[in-house]
Amino acid sequence: MWTGKKLAETYLQFFKEKGHSIIPSASLIPENDPTVLFTTAGMHPLVPYLMGQPHPAGKRLVNNQKCIRTVDIDNIGDPSHLTFFFMLGNWSLGDYFKKEAIEWSYEFLTSKKWLGLDKEKISVTCFEGDKDAPKDEESAKVWESLGIPKERIYFNPKEDNWWGPAGKTGPCGPDTEIFFDTGKEKCGPKCVPGCGCGKYFEIWNDVFMQYNKTEKEKFEPLKQKNVDTGMGLERTVAMLQGKQTVYDTELFEPIMNKISELEKNDLLKSRRVVADHLRSACFILAEGKQITPSNVEQGYVLRRLITRSIIHGKRLGLEGAFCRKIAEVVVEIYGKDWPEIKNNHEHLYLELDREEERLSKLTSKEEGESGKLNKLYLKLYKLPRDKRIISGKDAFNLSATHGYPIEMLEDWATTRNLKVDKKAWTIEFEKHQALSRKSTEGKFKSGLQDNSEQTIKMHTATHLLHAALRKVLGEHVQQKGSNITPERLRFDFSNPEKVTPEQLQEVEKIVNENIAAGIAVKRDEMTLEDAKKKGALAFFSGKYTPEKVSVYSIKGVSKEVCTGPHVKNTKEIGKFKIKKEESISAGVRRIKAVVE
Ligand code: ALA
Repeated sequence: MWTGKKLAETYLQFFKEKGHSIIPSASLIPENDPTVLFTTAGMHPLVPYLMGQPHPAGKRLVNNQKCIRTVDIDNIGDPSHLTFFFMLGNWSLGDYFKKEAIEWSYEFLTSKKWLGLDKEKISVTCFEGDKDAPKDEESAKVWESLGIPKERIYFNPKEDNWWGPAGKTGPCGPDTEIFFDTGKEKCGPKCVPGCGCGKYFEIWNDVFMQYNKTEKEKFEPLKQKNVDTGMGLERTVAMLQGKQTVYDTELFEPIMNKISELEKNDLLKSRRVVADHLRSACFILAEGKQITPSNVEQGYVLRRLITRSIIHGKRLGLEGAFCRKIAEVVVEIYGKDWPEIKNNHEHLYLELDREEERLSKLTSKEEGESGKLNKLYLKLYKLPRDKRIISGKDAFNLSATHGYPIEMLEDWATTRNLKVDKKAWTIEFEKHQALSRKSTEGKFKSGLQDNSEQTIKMHTATHLLHAALRKVLGEHVQQKGSNITPERLRFDFSNPEKVTPEQLQEVEKIVNENIAAGIAVKRDEMTLEDAKKKGALAFFSGKYTPEKVSVYSIKGVSKEVCTGPHVKNTKEIGKFKIKKEESISAGVRRIKAVVE
């Protein structure tokens, strides 16, 4: 049977035979890239290489990447959308282009030696062209040459057949998407691939990344023509098993069964939401201690996933601390192939328990007789029916000040025939998120590439900081996360207690001495094993380790496996200054610093 595991292994094998190097899945939390909160696609950690930097593993790459996408969160419960999924992807970094990419996709999907899917059930879409790029006749011709008739080749605008950039700027291009017919009835006369009714499952996307979108919304040709493809693992497994939804395969069935076992009400959509959201929460928490539920950025997304699970859990009649029970099944399914899940299982159970308890306490308090919700209820009930609206300000006050999630408030309001002014809440909320990111404007305004000079300096400064912390505090210090914007660097690391002002001063002094010393920053390529033997620090996810990695060394100071880029000499960095030191979770500290 085609399991998810077998599909991933077969995919990697196929592209290995076509000369690709297998690279590991990057973390779900992007490192040193301020443009997005989560890794949303396999191409995302590869942006520097799509822009022209050489990759140590070569020009042909393949992997199985963990991804989080929450833009479709409201669609969860339909047959195919997921907030967390595995993306199988192959890349050409200025090597092969449309012909090979499409031919290999088709061979992998339909050849009896590989997936052997029915050719008649495949249809494709291509880019129809606009002022930025021409109609993609080239891809359509390749499809025709493979035997896909014109009636099954559709042309669409940018909205549907263009991918990227992952942030606001960066590599992007036209794509050709491959759909598989599930055999379900058409939803109407206009039912075509991409309509989303569940008849056609999009299983693979071949993107031809040949443009760089600039801040001025211009599409400039990239130095090299790249291929970036992505196959949704869960969807493809469903197709291969003849299942109509992603929830009916071994990747979800045990989770769904566990929920059924615990539930009192049989609600399919809610069961799917709980299964999807808690699986996502587990994978985010498995990244270590850098992300915990909170009201901003990644922590907010995590909190939202857990809150929505609890709301839907209530509808199902799940009682007590149920998140952990479901998470245990997630750990069982994925722990073997994803060591971070196994190694962090206690941490993720604990965080789920903690958040569940926090929400449960909050609900009893605020919904109770003297709670804020009850007061609001009594006040609104005196008004005529159409005026019973919770204002944006009240809603925001409850969500931001008291941590009562907006989804929970909406749910509470609906069951009492009240409304929430969500629009006004959203305005307040966005203001708040923007304030929390005031020093990280880069996330909104521009990407790493546009600010390369400043971010590169910060990046090298981060390596110096890591080394200085290890020197002053001890070798137990390990990087737990790094995030850089043009304005500041943020470095998370393991340390059991607060770093004293004296220690911080010492760290700052060492970093500045190493900057003043003008030490060359050297890049070498070697196997991961050799890198570790030479004492380089490295962290990878999943069971695949890269054949070759880049090691950046600052002689006598630091040696780290890293994707770069870095300055050529430490003297380019400028003056280093620590701005803040704080705790972000048990045993993990955060330093914010700048270079001037
Ligand atoms: N980056 C492309 C996608 O996510 C392959 O669809």
